[in-house]
This record gives sequence, C-alpha cells and structure tokens, in this order.
Amino acid sequence: MADSHAKMTQATPQEVIISVVAGLFAPLLAIFLIVMLVLSIQDNHKPDTTSEAAQKATLARIKPVAQLAALDANAPKVEKSGQEVYAAVCAACHAAGALGAPKFENTGDWGSRLGQGYDTLVKHAIEGIRQMPPRGGGDLSDEEVARAVVYMANSAGASFKAPEAAAPAAAAPATAGKPDPAKGKIAYEANCAVCHASGVAGAPKLGDKAAWDARVGQGYATLYSHALNGIRGMPAKGGNASLPEADLANAVGYLFVEAGGKL
Ligand code: HEC
Ligand code: HEC
Repeated sequence: MADSHAKMTQATPQEVIISVVAGLFAPLLAIFLIVMLVLSIQDNHKPDTTSEAAQKATLARIKPVAQLAALDANAPKVEKSGQEVYAAVCAACHAAGALGAPKFENTGDWGSRLGQGYDTLVKHAIEGIRQMPPRGGGDLSDEEVARAVVYMANSAGASFKAPEAAAPAAAAPATAGKPDPAKGKIAYEANCAVCHASGVAGAPKLGDKAAWDARVGQGYATLYSHALNGIRGMPAKGGNASLPEADLANAVGYLFVEAGGKL
C-alpha cells in the first residue's frame, strides 16, 4: 500500500517536462484567446454605424424583431387601436409606400381605393390583395385590421367609422352601456375576489373605503381602463385574458359601487 503510494507521487523526467510545458501553455493560450477576442470585438465595431444609411440598415435589420416583440404571443391579448396596429404592422409598408403600398396621408394614393368602400377595403386588408399580405402579415383580429384600415383611410381623406369594439381601451366599452354592479358581483367572485377579498399583493379590498377613496376619485372610466390593461400589481383583466370586456366592466362597476362610487 505504502509502496504504491510512493510510486504514484514519483514523476519521471518526461512527466516533469510535460507538466511544466502544460503549466506555461495554458496561461499563454488563455492570454492569446483574450487578445483575439478583444481584437475581434474591435473589428466588429469598425464598420461605420453613424451614417444615416448605416442606421437605416440597422433599423431594417431589427425591425422584424421589434415587430415580434410588439406582437408577443405570451403578452395578454389586449385589442390594439387602429393607430397602434398601424404603427406595429402596417407602417412597415404604408409609411413609405414599400412594394407600391398606398402611403399614409397620401390622398392621391388612396383616392380611387377609397371609392371601393369600407367593406371592400377591409376585406382586402384581411384577405390580402396582390402585394398586400393578409392582415399585413400580423397576428391581428378582424377588428384590429379594420381599425387600422379606418385609421389609414381617414388619414387620406375618408371619414370611416371605426368598428364597434373600436372604442379605445381607455373608454368604457361603448356597447356595454352602463356597467351592471349586480351582474358584476358574479364576475367579481369568479375573477377578482382571489386578490380583492383579502387584499393580496396590496389589492384594495372590496368595500374598503380608505383603500378605494383616491381610486374612486379617478372615475369609473379610468378604473376600468386600469383593470383592462393592468396597473402595477393589478394584472390585465385580473389575469384572465379571456374574460369578456362586459363582465370586466360589470366587475369594476361592482368594486366601484361597493367603494361608494356613483355610476
Ligand atoms: C408587406 C407590406 C405591407 C404591409 C405590412 C401592409 N400592407 Fe397594405 N398594402 C400593401 C401593398 C403593396 C398594397 C397595394 C396592393 C395593390 O393594390 O396592388 C396595399 C394595399 C392596402 C389596402 C388597399 C387595398 C385596396 O383594395 O385598394 C389596404 C386597405 C391596406 N393595404 C391595409 C393594410 C393594413 C390595415 C395593414 C396593417 C395591418 C397593411 N395594409 C400592411 C403592402 C402592405
Ligand atoms: C392577482 C391579484 C389580482 C386580481 C386577480 C385582481 N386584481 Fe385588481 N388589483 C390588484 C392589485 C395588487 C391592485 C392595486 C394596484 C396598485 O394600485 O398598485 C389592484 C387594483 C385594482 C383596481 C384599481 C386600479 C386603480 O387605478 O386604482 C381595480 C379597478 C381593480 N383592481 C379591478 C379588478 C377587477 C375588476 C378584477 C377581476 C376581473 C381584479 N381587479 C382582479 C390585484 C388583483
């Protein structure tokens, strides 16, 4: 036992040479790699990035990513306004007229197209036509596409009305009329009570006047918009993306009235 131990620790001259070389080589290799890395980073930075052309090229390169971010499938689905859809999807072609797209605000480009009427334009935008891809290539609902069509067409002289659900997110849903607190109680219990009954995560408790006073002062429409889009610890639609907006409006109405607000 002792014998074999002594043998293991005894190095032959070759082993000594190998270990000395390896001991020198490893740090040298590391230094060499670091130098190469620094040089290559500097190299990458050499191309001109300040000229307008280079910046345009960069913008063009990152645009698909920016669009993906804007259309993140994991983000809670909040219906976009016409202007938002236009900026996120349609502007890529319709701002500058890429592929022959009629330009935003250009009455000449849009004149004869507007003559086709609202329904046809929306149909073409949804289904695509010639170089115009269906839904502009975006993951959009029919209403979102229609709103973007209205936004663009109106910029070029039309006076189309945005479709029903088009009420911008900030306003109470136009179709729902006045929220119904009695119906809201059911939606509240199913979706909101989990936080608002006991004050989880700092949620203002149902009927707690002190917690709600300043919030009620913002008015129902603002509270609805905050409940729809989320605010700080309050997730959009209470975290239930599929909650119909009318139910959400009623639930907000219920919280609002219970806190002493007058609808
Ligand atoms: C990839 C480029 C591209 C994108 C993105 C794009 N469009 Fe277009 N669009 C076009 C082109 C090109 C035309 C002209 C097609 C033609 O008439 O030949 C067009 C035409 C249209 C028309 C007129 C159709 C007609 O019947 O005259 C509408 C409306 C329209 N686009 C709406 C939209 C909307 C809304 C979006 C965003 C959701 C959008 N487009 C995104 C390229 C694009
Ligand atoms: C996961 C917990 C949670 C759920 C579920 C939840 N909320 Fe909230 N809510 C909060 C929190 C936390 C706040 C306080 C946010 C703040 O002001 O910082 C809040 C605040 C609010 C406000 C006041 C916003 C303001 O501007 O002051 C309203 C209105 C509201 N919630 C409505 C609802 C409705 C309606 C539901 C059900 C559809 C719901 N909440 C579900 C956590 C929740």
